Amino acid sequence: MKHNKHQTLLIVDFGSQVTKLIARRLREKKIYCEIHPYQNISELFLKTLLPRAIVLSGGPKSVNDQHSPKVSSFIYELGIPILGICYGQQLMMHQLGGKVKNSKFSSEFGRAFLKLKKETKLLEGWFNDTKEVVWMSHGDHVSKIAPGFEVFAISKNAPHAVVADTKRNFYGVQFHPEVHHTPKGILLFQNFLKIAGFNGDWTMQAYKNEMIQNIKDIVKKDRVICGISGGVDSTVTATLLHKAINKQLTCIFVNHGFLRKYEEIEVLKMFKKNIKIPLIYADESALFMKEIEGVADPEIKRKKIGKLFINIFQKYAKKIKNAKYLGQGTLYPDVIESVSENGQISETIKSHHNVGGLPKKMGLKLIEPLREVFKDEVRKLGKELGISKEFINRHPFPGPGLAIRCPGKITKEKIKILREADYIYIDQIKKFGLYDEIWQAFAAILPIKTVGVMGDKRTYEFACTLRAVTSVDGMTADYYPFEHEFLKDTSTRIINEVKGINRVTYDITSKPPGTIEWE
Ligand code: XMP
Repeated sequence: MKHNKHQTLLIVDFGSQVTKLIARRLREKKIYCEIHPYQNISELFLKTLLPRAIVLSGGPKSVNDQHSPKVSSFIYELGIPILGICYGQQLMMHQLGGKVKNSKFSSEFGRAFLKLKKETKLLEGWFNDTKEVVWMSHGDHVSKIAPGFEVFAISKNAPHAVVADTKRNFYGVQFHPEVHHTPKGILLFQNFLKIAGFNGDWTMQAYKNEMIQNIKDIVKKDRVICGISGGVDSTVTATLLHKAINKQLTCIFVNHGFLRKYEEIEVLKMFKKNIKIPLIYADESALFMKEIEGVADPEIKRKKIGKLFINIFQKYAKKIKNAKYLGQGTLYPDVIESVSENGQISETIKSHHNVGGLPKKMGLKLIEPLREVFKDEVRKLGKELGISKEFINRHPFPGPGLAIRCPGKITKEKIKILREADYIYIDQIKKFGLYDEIWQAFAAILPIKTVGVMGDKRTYEFACTLRAVTSVDGMTADYYPFEHEFLKDTSTRIINEVKGINRVTYDITSKPPGTIEWE
């Protein structure tokens, strides 16, 4: 699905784990941007995309390595502003005639202080104090700048921390402005966007209208099947599809047996009452359990579930004349974290069931209108589409459901226990009025039994963990700081009311280094 009406910024990815945060920061400023792996940047590609500016991302390699990732130097002849970040800066210097060195004395990891050498538009509004905090993560550093460039700021171990050729509007920074640990990073992007003449034309209303038209153009007279999970993403996808093609859409809600307590009842009710799109309900829980029971490896769980989903959708598609497409609520972070689309050099974190978990051969073509947006943008889009607040503000729930909240082997018993514990936990959160403050909360059942004592009797039952995070888009997250009173009350309720659990723990890991889900 393509946009070409917006002013576009191209992010060339060299494999940094934080490349997606560049896109995030730019989207906050209403800029349409696309991340593409360095291998894809051909002249033809650039003529099609027509970017107004380019950002070169960071990356794990050294520009001095023989096979280091590079981009063809014609990008420097396009006459558009370029911002190189970390590896991107080093590559720009290397390609334009400067030098990059590696020395153990020149690495910086974590917090560093930037000192201004000379005023530049890129750092406008930065230096209220004489130094600014930035986040560094580099082993190599620029040892000689390329002709035409000047140094504008330095740090202890980066003598060329900010460089620029202001005539050509080429900028290079050694630190990472895209991470939160560089407090004024967003201002740097804002300045760069101003230099490049962006006016912030990426709005949800425009996106909605374009997507509806896009779907019409792709689907034409064919029919689309759309999987519904009851979550925000699939609901927004279905609503968009429905607005675009109306009766050519068939929505299917597959119960894979890993839903939360009463979820199927609530989703069916909500679709009937609020969304008003006809829905086929397919209870396939027995089939899923047969395939997944006993599986312990998280990736195998995800892949098996993905495959089963597709088989079921294909089964239904066969019954519908001209069903050629499968609509899915895949989001941009799912794409990035799943398949390392952006130049196989960034790690696959998990195969999100609807992306990396899909079988290679499918009889249906995918239609994924949310593939370019982040979670908070989906919620904004949902509002634009008139979906009720109650629905939009539901916590996210992953496609593979409780199956990825049960580390170790899946058993019917563990899923049953987990469902009960999760229900009480969410009930507590609602009772304490915390639901809307928390981005996502759930319980996971741990693959260990521990000894306890209840009513003077020894118990030997499962332990569970509770997770609650605050976040904007699920890509980074902090654990929610519950009051002890809440934790005490909830733990007591779970242990008293759920047979099979005798110990409750609270997960205090942020993302990164953890992920939100346990698997
Ligand atoms: P992680 O665990 O990757 O989760 O930090 C980030 C967000 O994505 C959700 N998630 C998924 N959603 N299919 C989905 O639809 C999946 O396979 C999947 N895996 C994780 C997770 O619940 C969190 O909101």
